[in-house]
Amino acid sequence: MIFETKQIILKDGRTAILKSPSVEDAEQLLNYIKKCCGETDFLRRYPEEWKITVEQEEAWVKRLRSSPDTLGITCYVDGQTVGSCEINFNSSMKTSHRAVIAISILKDYWNLGIGSAMFEELTAAAQSRGTEIMELEFIEGNERAKHLYEKFGFRVICEKPKAIKLKNGAYLSEFYMQKYLCEA
Ligand SMILES: CC(C)(COP(=O)(O)OP(=O)(O)OC[C@H]1O[C@@H](n2cnc3c(N)ncnc32)[C@H](O)[C@@H]1OP(=O)(O)O)[C@@H](O)C(=O)NCCC(=O)NCCS
Repeated sequence: MIFETKQIILKDGRTAILKSPSVEDAEQLLNYIKKCCGETDFLRRYPEEWKITVEQEEAWVKRLRSSPDTLGITCYVDGQTVGSCEINFNSSMKTSHRAVIAISILKDYWNLGIGSAMFEELTAAAQSRGTEIMELEFIEGNERAKHLYEKFGFRVICEKPKAIKLKNGAYLSEFYMQKYLCEA
């Protein structure tokens, strides 16, 4: 799916662009996600686990743009990729009322309103698709993410104890959240 490019103003007054990533952005996007994963333990992967090539990332961007069931939005500030989010609409009949969200933003750009702007767009996309339930998960301790999700009406449904194991051996829970767009 393609997102119609939109300009937003950040809390510090800077301008940012929300748009679907294009194939030419693939290398930058790959470097961005590696950097993001190195900045926080609240994403599922370590940076070194991103072993894919630029060509594979290009193919992924092409699939993202052409898939009828996935909307990806990337945020650019001064031409640099600083954030990315995705909503995946289930296509199987028994689960097509549900959609899953994922989001990440570079540390230097946290708390500037990018996450909120992206959630506005993801929610609008889910509404226009007729989705009943939006879903996501966050890792124990990620209070910023939890605050953002609760602000947008998500509620914790259950805890998955020891879902994450860090390199230092520490276990962390994951929390599964849902937001009901209409009574299901
Ligand atoms: C979590 C994340 C997506 C939020 O995006 P963001 O652009 O920073 O979000 P926003 O600026 O729109 O909003 C952040 C909100 O959290 C609040 N906040 C900041 N730090 C907080 C904290 N420690 N505890 C609670 N709330 C906090 C801010 O005040 C703001 O609330 P407001 O809109 O009511 O004023 C982003 O910080 C991020 O990518 N973090 C690293 C990766 C990650 O955790 N991804 C999510 C995986 S589930």
